[in-house]
Amino acid sequence: MEVKTSLLDNMIGVGDMVLLEPLSEDSFIENLRNRFDHNEIYTYIGSVVISMNPYRALPIYTPEKVEEYRNRNFYELSPHIYALADEAYRSLRDQDKDQCILITGESGAGKTEASKLVMSYVAAVCGKGQEVNKVKEQLLQSNPVLEAFGNAKTVRNDNSSRFGKYMDIEFDFKGDPLGGVISNYLLEKSRVVKQPRGERNFHVFYQLLSGASDDTLKKLKLDRDFSKYNYLSLDSAAVIGLDDAANFRTVKNAMQIVGFMEDEVQSVLQLVAAVLKLGNIEFKPESRSNGTDESRIKDKNDLKEMCELLGIEQSVLERAFSYRTVEAKQEKVSTTLNVAQAYYARDALAKNLYSRLFSWLVTRINESIKAQTKARHKVMGVLDIYGFEIFEDNSFEQFIINYCNEKLQQIFIELTLREEQEEYVREGIEWTNIEYFNNAIICDLIENHQNGILAMLDEECLRPGTVTDETFLDKLNTICAGHKHFESRQSKNSKFLTDHSLPHNCFRIQHYAGKVLYRAEGFVDKNNDLLYRDMSQAMYKAKHSLIKQLFPEGNPAKVNLKRPPTAGFQFKASVGTLMRNLQTKNPNYIRCIKPNDKKASHIFTDTLVCHQVRYLGLMENVRVRRAGYAFRQAYEPCLERYKMLCKRTWPHWKGPAREGVEVLMADLQVPADDFSYGRSKIFIRNPRTLFSLEERRRQCLQDLATLIQKIYRGHKCRSHFLLLKKSQIVVSAWYRRYAQEKKYQKIKSATTVVQSYTRGWQARKLLRELKYQKRCEEAVTTIAAFWHGTQARMELRRLKQEAQNKHAVTVIWAFWQGTKARRELRRLKEEARRKNAVALIWAYWQGLKVRRDYRKFFRANAGKKIYDFTIQRIMQKYFLGLKSTSPPMSPVDKSWPARPYRFLDGVHAELRKIFHHWRCKKYRSQFTEEKKAVYKEKLEASEIFKDKKALYPSSVSQPFKGDYLEITKNPKYQKLNSSVDAKVLLADVVNKINRANGKGTARIFLLTKKGVVLADQKTGQVKASVPLPDLASVSVSTQNDGFFALKLKEGSASAIKGDFLLSSERLIEIITKLHLTGATAADSERLNIDISDEFLVQFNHDKVCVKFIQGAARNGNGVSCKRKNNRLLEVSVPTTA
Ligand SMILES: Nc1ncnc2c1ncn2[C@@H]1O[C@H](COP(=O)(O)OP(=O)(O)OP(=O)(O)O)[C@@H](O)[C@H]1O
Ligand SMILES: [Mg+2]
Repeated sequence: MEVKTSLLDNMIGVGDMVLLEPLSEDSFIENLRNRFDHNEIYTYIGSVVISMNPYRALPIYTPEKVEEYRNRNFYELSPHIYALADEAYRSLRDQDKDQCILITGESGAGKTEASKLVMSYVAAVCGKGQEVNKVKEQLLQSNPVLEAFGNAKTVRNDNSSRFGKYMDIEFDFKGDPLGGVISNYLLEKSRVVKQPRGERNFHVFYQLLSGASDDTLKKLKLDRDFSKYNYLSLDSAAVIGLDDAANFRTVKNAMQIVGFMEDEVQSVLQLVAAVLKLGNIEFKPESRSNGTDESRIKDKNDLKEMCELLGIEQSVLERAFSYRTVEAKQEKVSTTLNVAQAYYARDALAKNLYSRLFSWLVTRINESIKAQTKARHKVMGVLDIYGFEIFEDNSFEQFIINYCNEKLQQIFIELTLREEQEEYVREGIEWTNIEYFNNAIICDLIENHQNGILAMLDEECLRPGTVTDETFLDKLNTICAGHKHFESRQSKNSKFLTDHSLPHNCFRIQHYAGKVLYRAEGFVDKNNDLLYRDMSQAMYKAKHSLIKQLFPEGNPAKVNLKRPPTAGFQFKASVGTLMRNLQTKNPNYIRCIKPNDKKASHIFTDTLVCHQVRYLGLMENVRVRRAGYAFRQAYEPCLERYKMLCKRTWPHWKGPAREGVEVLMADLQVPADDFSYGRSKIFIRNPRTLFSLEERRRQCLQDLATLIQKIYRGHKCRSHFLLLKKSQIVVSAWYRRYAQEKKYQKIKSATTVVQSYTRGWQARKLLRELKYQKRCEEAVTTIAAFWHGTQARMELRRLKQEAQNKHAVTVIWAFWQGTKARRELRRLKEEARRKNAVALIWAYWQGLKVRRDYRKFFRANAGKKIYDFTIQRIMQKYFLGLKSTSPPMSPVDKSWPARPYRFLDGVHAELRKIFHHWRCKKYRSQFTEEKKAVYKEKLEASEIFKDKKALYPSSVSQPFKGDYLEITKNPKYQKLNSSVDAKVLLADVVNKINRANGKGTARIFLLTKKGVVLADQKTGQVKASVPLPDLASVSVSTQNDGFFALKLKEGSASAIKGDFLLSSERLIEIITKLHLTGATAADSERLNIDISDEFLVQFNHDKVCVKFIQGAARNGNGVSCKRKNNRLLEVSVPTTA
């Protein structure tokens, strides 16, 4: 349920002064002070908002606050400027009523801030969308631009508006902003050339010098130092809390958002710079022959720079500072200017230049922000005009500013009263008129067509003859002397004759906000606002488009001899238009009050506030409001707020709200005099009645709160009890269920036990029976088995006995046979020995017989001769036999006949050797030279590798071909061949082992008489060339692999890249040839060949050990090489079966 709040909730003091009780000036001020001390800076008088300047940032303008006040009734929340802005915006949007927000108060009271707050609130709550946001942003960003050019520090306000601004924001039927129109009122242009003490020129001059880059300043021919410019007062150039440099950036950014082109911004800055330069032009008198003084420019440098900036011919402007042309009735008269006139002309030009630039800015902003559609729109006007001001020295500008404030006060009085009266009439309430001070009389004193001060000033300005400020004051003294609000020494009222606070050259006006003393000096000039035509013509001649645009009257083709309207006349006319405009709109008032003169927070000066309360007529405002009825409220919210006070309306009233309120009032017995029923609202005459209603409501709310509490507590307890009861039932049900479940489980398990016992007993019984049965069956089987066993064993024993008997017979037989055979053998041997002995004895006996028989026929040495002859015959037979049995002539044939006699053992072996040597020689003698070379290599290979390297045997049968690539014939290698300058002895593809990973890369290996060349296999490009003298040694393993390392001599040219680790199936041939070539080369030593399973190879700067191990063959692949670490390359060679 939405909680309805009210202004009356949590009030500090009284939020609406109408409810102040008792009402007096003191209580009014006290209420303001009380609220101000609690940071409540806004207070209502009915629908008027009083705003106290807090002079510090309060956290009451946050987006959350905007949301809080959005779409809420005016009196629903505590007073705030957002409530007024919301009310105005909603009645514009929902009731189609054009609105105006009138913000009044004296200088520094917070009008400009209030206007910005209203605009930002409206921007926050109105529609959204890309286009709408752009319009909003442009409307909001017009403020910083206008403030920079139109605001200045004064003694009263560091950011005082020196122009009046009225901005119409236009909305479409949905309440989305379409655009806006700004009207500006009379800029205080005298400030451009002179500022009172403690005040500054317009902000833009200081912002430009502090914030522009060095480059920009150089382009504008300016210096950052304020003291270099006569137009900038020095005593208060820097203002605490005002960052001119940062503000300059903000203004430039704002100009960009509003839609200024870059060249327009530059033109504007050039004009600002030109005004500063203009102030530095100084004059000196120069005597003429006719005795008069003529002005001359002292130092032309500033003039020159200004002319360069604005594209003006220097001589033209220089002449305009020395001469003045007056045109009258077709006649042109040129007169010289004296120094004072020249200074006047200079300042007039500066003021005009600046004020016209300001008006151009407003027009330019209007061009950007104007609504793009012509559709009918609703308008919300925000008026932020310079506040009423009283200075020590008040001149024409203050007079105009205060006149404007008088007019606003008047419109406030008129509209407040009218609105109040109209409301009573609208609501059908009886109304009696209330007395209040009407400042129309003061307005009349100033603006009366015949004898108003402005009319007289115009009259003086237009009158022929000598016109001075004194003649103007004289005129005032004669015409206005009788006026109640006009005071001067010469007035009819004798009391002023001796009033020394009123100097002779001044007059005083009793404004609604206090008496102000005006010095007549300068009124006529300022009203005339004269700029010599020569000046405007010089400006028109400028090549600067903006300047030309600002001085259209300088166009010689459009010379207008009519005097331009005076400043006073123009202002009066524009104020008149403004007032008429405001009267067509629904007014909303913000009355700004300044709490102190020190621009300080937390200080509340009673007298100052009291003065403002008086002249703003706030007390009268409250009285007027209360004279009728202090409080009014529509029937619905009233019934909603108080319905709890009556049983019949509480909690719901079904009929119309008015009847509900009537029932309520009757029930509460409020005296009939204290209130009246309007058509849509109830009007309560006395605040006390309202407070008593509020008090009763508070009481009733307390009772209601107690009742609600009581019912709520009862409800809570009952709910708790019901919950407990329900839970108890649930718990007991669960418990019963649990207990039953337990019991059931017990019975179930007991049954199971009993059952199992019974089943067990039955089973055991059955088992016993079955076992008995089985034992019986088994006993039969066992007996049968035993019987069969016994039978079988008996049979076995019998068979065994039988076999034993048979075996014994055989053994005995064998022994017997053996004994018989041995006996026979012995006998045979004995017999053979006897026979042999018989033969031997017989042979010896025969020999002896023969020798005895033949001894007589032979000489003593015949035996030896026979022996020699026999030996000779045997040898002869042996040799001749060899001729036929000698083996073939092949040197590889290993056959040799057996020896016939044992004594020939040595000869036979020697002969075999000789024969082999002979047949080898025979074989060699058939060789050609090439074959000889081949065998030489083979022989060399055998010497190097035989029994040292396992690869060697396989190479024996392979012929050493040398040029495997046919390098001389193959055109592919023509280039390579030509790059090698000696004869190629060997050309083959080898693998160059990569030192990083042990993988091989194919390379062409060429061996020439001079050295070794390695080339790319595909391109034939030479990769390395090593002269033979650079080779130190070659290392190979003992195993069946083709790895070989060519080691280079340390320090040789080839050794830079390190040794080569290569691999080839034709290792034996390569190394042999290399060895042989090395040996034949005259200038090299014999190449060392190192055969070992571990050797070091120099790679770049590292020595890497190459180690050969025996491993199993993998994937049919033979040798594998792996890099194990930085220092070890491991080559695994499969073991040869
Ligand atoms: N609501 C506010 N919250 C905080 N500071 C404020 C508020 N209103 C005003 N001020 C302060 O007071 C200073 C003067 O306010 P502002 O410029 O609005 O006065 P002004 O009534 O427009 O005066 P003038 O008539 O000279 O232009 C502001 O610069 C600001 O520092
Ligand atoms: Mg202001």
